[in-house]
Amino acid sequence: MNPMPHRHLAGLKAQVSAIGAGCWTIGGPATNRGTPIGWDGVDPDTAFGGLVRAIERGVTLYDTADVYGLGHSERLLGKLLRVAARHDLTISSKVGYFAGTARHAYHPLQMRAQLATTLDNLGTDHLDIYFLHSSDFGPHDRYLPDAVDLMRTWRTEGVIRAVGMRAPHRFAEEWAVTDGPQAAETRRWLHLFDQVRPDVLTARYNLLSPLYADHETDIFRFAHRHGVGVLIKQVLGQGLLLHAETSANQRQYSAGDHRSTDPAFTPDNRRQLHARLAPLRVRYGPSPTAMARLCVQYALHHAPDAAVLVGFRNASQIDTIIASLDHPLQADDITQIRAVLHASPHTY
Ligand SMILES: NC(=O)c1ccc[n+]([C@@H]2O[C@H](COP(=O)([O-])OP(=O)(O)OC[C@H]3O[C@@H](n4cnc5c(N)ncnc54)[C@H](OP(=O)(O)O)[C@@H]3O)[C@@H](O)[C@H]2O)c1
Repeated sequence: MNPMPHRHLAGLKAQVSAIGAGCWTIGGPATNRGTPIGWDGVDPDTAFGGLVRAIERGVTLYDTADVYGLGHSERLLGKLLRVAARHDLTISSKVGYFAGTARHAYHPLQMRAQLATTLDNLGTDHLDIYFLHSSDFGPHDRYLPDAVDLMRTWRTEGVIRAVGMRAPHRFAEEWAVTDGPQAAETRRWLHLFDQVRPDVLTARYNLLSPLYADHETDIFRFAHRHGVGVLIKQVLGQGLLLHAETSANQRQYSAGDHRSTDPAFTPDNRRQLHARLAPLRVRYGPSPTAMARLCVQYALHHAPDAAVLVGFRNASQIDTIIASLDHPLQADDITQIRAVLHASPHTY
């Protein structure tokens, strides 16, 4: 077993483990204002076992949010911080989806209350990265200037070390000046980026992500040019890319699991994805372990400056993910995977 590799995260100006523990899943099932936002079947003790295994295996990056299990995720991570060396770890959390009784999740009173609760849940006096989780800043972005001011004040005070925001799932900077279908969303995001001037982004990237043309500036090239770090999410397609689901064995998700309403998880989409991934299962092996290796290595290969966040529910899933680091993909593999998956246009 090789030691955990590290990556220099621009923006934070710090080394982090190449694999980060994404702590959304361990929050368990939850709803926020009637919307499913959690994950089914999570046992807190088993999930804590996953966190302990992560630290034993050299994971130094832990990502959570106020809404992950409505505080459960932060509190489980806080339990880990009571027995771990805080200064060796990079901890990120998020604000922006939980409005409580306030008018808006980004109302300054709400943001202050959420940060205090987050620090209390985690049992720490600072966050390494604090993300603006949602892009909804109210009518006419009413809450945006105050939200940005608060984040910068907290960064100056040292309560947070870096400001984060999310990137669009599909992005090429050049789309902003076209009249194509992504133009408005791209312009909107570039405007927010300009206002927030974040240090770190989260971006979705996995086997199904679009391939960009050489003349297009994808989110990784864009971030690099701006000196901004990137944390990659949804590398495993939230489990979709690992499980070989035929029509006969499709999982059902309860009302507290966000996958119950996610269009990517409709029976039809899962059937189509199963067929699309079949050639890779033949070549690399059908097990979740074999697919996890493809997913993790594909993302790490694409973005040598970025760290990959993976969700997990137990120690065994963490082990599988970390074991995949010992088996890099070669350039030929990447070419082959792209040829198999992107022979015809798909969306995800
Ligand atoms: N998705 C977002 O919008 C978002 C935004 C900001 C940050 N993040 C961060 O990114 C982290 C990663 O989450 P994600 O949404 O990107 O999901 P992901 O990592 O693509 O998928 C995680 C899920 O895959 C399944 N899995 C993991 N290891 C497995 C294994 N070895 N064998 C079989 N199944 C396995 C587990 O679900 P099951 O066991 O239920 O199948 C697990 O919860 C989050 O925890 C969060 O910290 C995500």
